[in-house]
Amino acid sequence: MLDFAIFWEWLSFAARWLHVITGIAWIGSSFYFVALDLGLRQRPGLPAGAHGEEWQVHGGGFYHIQKYLVAPAEMPEHLTWFKWESYATWMSGFAMLAIVYYAGADLFLIDRNVLDVSAPVAILISLVSIIAGWIVYDQLCRLFYGKSDTILMLLLYCILVFLSWGLTHLFTGRAAFLHLGAITATIMSCNVFMVIIPNQKIVVADLIAGRKPDAKYGKIAKTRSLHNNYLTLPVLFLMLSNHYPLAFATQFNWIIASLVFIIGVLIRHYFNTVHARKGNPHWTWLAATILFVIIIWLSTVPKVLTGEEKVAAGTETLIASTHFSAVRDTVMGRCAMCHAAEPSYEGIYHAPKDVVLETDDTIAEHAREIYLQAGRSHAMPPGNVTQITPEERALLVAWYEEARK
Ligand code: HEC
Repeated sequence: MLDFAIFWEWLSFAARWLHVITGIAWIGSSFYFVALDLGLRQRPGLPAGAHGEEWQVHGGGFYHIQKYLVAPAEMPEHLTWFKWESYATWMSGFAMLAIVYYAGADLFLIDRNVLDVSAPVAILISLVSIIAGWIVYDQLCRLFYGKSDTILMLLLYCILVFLSWGLTHLFTGRAAFLHLGAITATIMSCNVFMVIIPNQKIVVADLIAGRKPDAKYGKIAKTRSLHNNYLTLPVLFLMLSNHYPLAFATQFNWIIASLVFIIGVLIRHYFNTVHARKGNPHWTWLAATILFVIIIWLSTVPKVLTGEEKVAAGTETLIASTHFSAVRDTVMGRCAMCHAAEPSYEGIYHAPKDVVLETDDTIAEHAREIYLQAGRSHAMPPGNVTQITPEERALLVAWYEEARK
């Protein structure tokens, strides 16, 4: 009989695989069109209604693309749409959210020290936050239509900062980051589904009916598409951050998330400027690097200030440490119910990520991971289900850092 745990594991892998594939397709086409758009050139003699053109060479042939704004005089015979890349990314992403965070709510979504709620309530909060994110964003965009794009962007940024802070007060750090990413990604997909494509359909209907389409539909779609462009890189960081507890499970995680949005915008700004042939703003890379260094620093405050040596500690040193017996007790009491060859924790069928922490040797072998996952960050135990204390975390840190000297 097929073991349910194995089936679940593969289901999760399949959803992740699909999500990455569709994400690549969506982001790929989106980057391509933004670059194409910025690189269009005007010249005398373009057909009526054409806004610009570009020659490209790729894969053994030349492409000659012309953009019509708002639309060509009549409906072309064949028209390729770009929408399923976005929809499929959202759907596979939502499937992953359900598989990892809803099915595993007690481990990954809920941190009872942050907000003590049951799994259904936490899932409800998650769904509401995702829907509300879109509604607030969409209403603001409508309010600001025809007004300053820059003020709108600044306002949206403030909301994102507030959201990063707020989410870390609802969920585990890991889930907070993922939700920030999911809310942003939902805004991006809804931009395609609810605004860009419907507007495009109105224009197509006008063309078919022989009416002159209103330029406003194109303009609205353009603003949304610009937002999507700037949000792409931060969303990727947030989705990947799940594998890096130093980003999501430390004290200043919400500031880290807020800075990531700025880094994403800086890097997009660089490429947008270069593609538009408006210069080469190298400063954006410097600024992005500085922000990244600040993020690294924030994840380790206040340790960096005291300076530390980066020597790997040998297994013997770790076991010989005066802290070791207390460390062993902590790991046996707080981790081993899951991280064992035969876990006793309900719902865990084999040692997560193959990390077994049962003997002196296995504990010492995983010292660095224990230090990162449970000492420096609060990623483990998940949602602190086994109630590790701050003193015990400090002990894990002291043990590892002293042995490393
Ligand atoms: C309730 C069960 C449970 C407890 C208790 C628990 N863990 Fe985990 N641990 C998990 C799960 C589940 C994962 C896999 C997380 C994932 O899929 O990203 C994991 C992953 C890990 C990893 C691998 C992380 C990675 O991404 O490579 C390490 C290291 C780890 N845990 C250490 C610990 C330590 C140290 C403790 C005790 C302080 C602990 N865990 C307590 C369930 C638990």
